[in-house]
Amino acid sequence: MTASSTNPFRFNQIVSKEYFCKREELEFVGDLVSTGQNVALIGPRRTGKTSLALEVCRKAKRKIIHADMMRVPSYADVIKRLIEAAMRDNTSGKVESFIKSLAHLRPTFTIDPVSGGTQWTVSPANKSTPQNVIDALRIIKARCEATDAVLFIDEFQDLTALPQPDSLMAQIRAEVQLWSEVPIIFAGSDRDLMKALFTDPANPFYQSASVVMINNIDQSTFKRYIRRCFERTGKSIENELIDQVFMVTGEHPNSTQKLLHFLWAKTAEGAAASEPELVDALAITIRAEQDEFERSLDNLTLIQSRALIAAAKLGGERTVGADFLELAGIRNPTSSTKALMRCVQLKMLQKDGANYRFTNPFFKEWLKRLG
Ligand SMILES: Nc1ncnc2c1ncn2[C@@H]1O[C@H](COP(=O)(O)OP(=O)(O)OP(=O)(O)O)[C@@H](O)[C@H]1O
Ligand SMILES: [Mg+2]
Repeated sequence: MTASSTNPFRFNQIVSKEYFCKREELEFVGDLVSTGQNVALIGPRRTGKTSLALEVCRKAKRKIIHADMMRVPSYADVIKRLIEAAMRDNTSGKVESFIKSLAHLRPTFTIDPVSGGTQWTVSPANKSTPQNVIDALRIIKARCEATDAVLFIDEFQDLTALPQPDSLMAQIRAEVQLWSEVPIIFAGSDRDLMKALFTDPANPFYQSASVVMINNIDQSTFKRYIRRCFERTGKSIENELIDQVFMVTGEHPNSTQKLLHFLWAKTAEGAAASEPELVDALAITIRAEQDEFERSLDNLTLIQSRALIAAAKLGGERTVGADFLELAGIRNPTSSTKALMRCVQLKMLQKDGANYRFTNPFFKEWLKRLG
């Protein structure tokens, strides 16, 4: 495949190098990490936290130990994820002392007979304790110091769902505050929990990392990047059409890349993207998710689904006004608010002040098209 025939827009995956738009946070977070500061990246789902952390380290030519704590079910699994992340690109001899110190974790080194690839796995005792987690962190610290690596703990807030979270967090904090030479990047998509962890004086992690909020990419930076992606693959796009893409996606990074992926694919080689192709691209994007949208709607009561459809058609700003209630066929504002709050609970909507926003902009577009 030639460079010009490869779609430059990637979605639902970590992006790096030419697929990564150099958002302004890149330099800022890079500076913090290079001076040994801990950083907490906080932002909604799919806004680019993981890609940013990895790109910061790639640019600084630093190794990264990337442990993802998403829905981690036990202390043993915390240890497993930390240690396996530390050993991810380790092959053979160099890691002997590291492995010896892990004897009680029962490490196994496997070689895939087909690909020849190697992998370490560990099986910590089921009864692992917070102290065992701290022991694992000490091993990671030594490993980071030896290889000048950065520790990246992704979906960090999920540790608070483990038993006795306060004591666990206090112990982790007590340990990592001694790590003067090893920067840690924490990331998490539960904004409330993450903010509470790092900015509430009652929490052990209070002020232990610089908090960086990750939302949309700065509009003009993103536009320049999008135009360049089209141009380096022999196509083009006008700013006005990018504005129309943004109108649909609310500039959300993953949704924007998804729509642009299909728009780029629909645009002929050497041509400029145009409105009919955007209409097609949007239809493809919606069709790809339609089954899921239907299922989501089926899970709602009649009143909830009517309120949701009205929010898609009229916008989520004035959901207690007479026109909203009339369109939704709901008698009073209290019922409408209750119905919409259920959609917030189900993560279909997000509430910003008095405004309801769709988590998935394509769900909104699909609802708008319903009769
Ligand atoms: N800097 C960027 N340049 C271009 N696209 C980006 C960038 N950051 C994020 N994206 C888009 O967002 C998608 C998700 O990125 P990423 O997985 O890094 O986000 P996240 O916030 O870690 O997501 P999650 O909530 O699933 O952990 C990417 O596939 C890409 O489409
Ligand atoms: Mg992520």
